[in-house]
Amino acid sequence: MDTQYFDATTQKEAGTALGGRIIRGGGLVAFPTETVYGLGANGLDGSAVSSIFEAKGRPADNPLIMHVAKKSDVKQLWRHVPDEARRLMDAFWPGPLTLVFLKSDIVPDEVTAGLDTVAVRMPEHKTALALIRAAGVPIAAPSANLSGRPSPTAAEHVLADMDGRIDMVIDGGPCRVGVESTVLTLVGRPTVLRPGGITREMLEQVIGSVDISPAVLRPLGEDEVAASPGMKYKHYAPDCEVVVAVGSARKVANIICREYDIAEAMGKRCIVLGTEQNRSCYHGMSCDIIGDRAMPQTLCASLFAALREYSGTVDLILAEGIDERDQGLAYMNRLLRASGFTVLRE
Ligand code: TXA
Ligand code: MG
Repeated sequence: MDTQYFDATTQKEAGTALGGRIIRGGGLVAFPTETVYGLGANGLDGSAVSSIFEAKGRPADNPLIMHVAKKSDVKQLWRHVPDEARRLMDAFWPGPLTLVFLKSDIVPDEVTAGLDTVAVRMPEHKTALALIRAAGVPIAAPSANLSGRPSPTAAEHVLADMDGRIDMVIDGGPCRVGVESTVLTLVGRPTVLRPGGITREMLEQVIGSVDISPAVLRPLGEDEVAASPGMKYKHYAPDCEVVVAVGSARKVANIICREYDIAEAMGKRCIVLGTEQNRSCYHGMSCDIIGDRAMPQTLCASLFAALREYSGTVDLILAEGIDERDQGLAYMNRLLRASGFTVLRE
């Protein structure tokens, strides 16, 4: 199949109108959101949704997020709209927050992987919203990468994984947030299943205390059930070893310099994913300063692109761990998964 490319930054309406027609006809369209690129299909058409799983090589038991263009669209997808959801939607939609609640009968089992809940979000991106409006249906969309690879934060990442496997990609430039949305379930106690741009601290200001799923910062044991099926799969894995140093800014720099010397002496090609605060510590080493420890959102915005860039071109990525506060929780969740939970501390 030929994958059509459309640049939404120059050819605005034409791309989303055509994309909407492709989605209504059962096809697959990759599109930009504020978090990462999504791979969309008609969320009310079970067989269109199945073709997403095929194109990505995604395990069939990992459910998808429904994307809507207006808040009131959740009414058709959920059994009812709980009060907490209303308050969260008013505070954070459109934006990087996905809410999970009991599904209505119109949601196909292919979307929910047979669960009785469905995840919904309204993205904060004008091209995504225009595409959903043009399609006239909720769009079911996972991240537009091959299963297991880092999520795409630019159209070129989508094409690297999906060219020839999907009908169309709409290029909206780089994604602002860079990690996938926060997933919060409202069934039972509100619990973050996946941290993202809307932080626990932000959620708690609106609905009070929020739990964090244990799977967020550690691997699940063999006999544990994942609240979010996505958490049990190997994720974001680049084609090289990834090691995360944790501790204070000074300590992580010490650990990284030591490990770099050891690895280099063994003939390994290494790269440091560092922060502004430690720039001067990595003098003479191969290093990419990807953000600022005091502004974890800057690290989130560049992590996946960096993992893709160095995948296969180095043997070892040595990355700085940061505090798990605010967006630091999302950063550490993705980084720890990319490393297979390989952590060094002093
Ligand atoms: O930012 C995002 O959320 C991006 C963009 C494209 O919107 N989408 C995305 O989709 O990251 P995906 O499929 O890569 O991740 C969806 C996550 C998975 O971890 C999945 O297990 C979880 O949401 N999920 C979906 N439906 C669920 C449900 N009913 N209950 C629990 N977890 C669910
Ligand atoms: Mg994904």
